[in-house]
Amino acid sequence: MTAQLNARGDVAVLVPAAGSGVRLGPGAPKALRPLAGEPLLVHAVRRVAAAPSVRLIVVAAPAAEVPAVRELLAPIAPVTVVPGGAQRQDSVAAALAAVPAEVPIVLVHDAARALTPPELVESVAAAVRSGHPAVIPALPVVDTVKEVDAAGTVLGTVDRSVLRSVQTPQGFRHDVLAAAHRAGLDSHTDDAGMVEKAGLPVLCVPGSELALKITRPLDLVLAEALLAVA
Ligand code: CTP
Ligand code: MG
Repeated sequence: MTAQLNARGDVAVLVPAAGSGVRLGPGAPKALRPLAGEPLLVHAVRRVAAAPSVRLIVVAAPAAEVPAVRELLAPIAPVTVVPGGAQRQDSVAAALAAVPAEVPIVLVHDAARALTPPELVESVAAAVRSGHPAVIPALPVVDTVKEVDAAGTVLGTVDRSVLRSVQTPQGFRHDVLAAAHRAGLDSHTDDAGMVEKAGLPVLCVPGSELALKITRPLDLVLAEALLAVA
């Protein structure tokens, strides 16, 4: 059954899904690879659509796959599908262009974080709604972290209590994200990096272990195990 989105919701969720998945190994674009029999993108969109604040979902798909992705997602939720770009940031910009100005909150998610629970979408959106211009879900770093030189010699041990591993969805006031993109601020790793460069505060809220990014083959094994128990 197709999920209904909330026409009175105040959140648009962008789902960049145009990457090829080089680190996962040869095969279809990553967002279309199966996890427990369904493409990663289907898992991701189903969970986003279950978040009650979501009014609009925009997926950036590999250009050659736009019609196939529309067909794939039609039974899951009403979704706008646009062609993505060469870099993730280009795909985000393409999706952002499809969001009407009157939607006040925009979240940027990864199709690769296919098991992200709807509750995380809601908690990030709620923090933006309460007045924070940029909000990112994050987890404490569990490993000991060393700083090294080019030869691998340890220079020091980093105080990990001040470090966080950052996930998606990352949430923004629509005008803040749009201004960061207009300014052409480059961020190679995450969307909040652009807002940081613009000098605005970015708030971390608790992330979820289910929001892991499926990057390498072992992550697919882990995600299947998590699906079985979650
Ligand atoms: N993404 C995108 N457009 C790109 C590159 C990435 O929309 N040009 C999306 C991916 O589809 C993914 C998310 O951004 O959902 C996070 O990227 P990543 O995990 O790096 O996925 P890939 O780029 O596909 O993987 P790899 O880097 O291993 O090729
Ligand atoms: Mg990538």
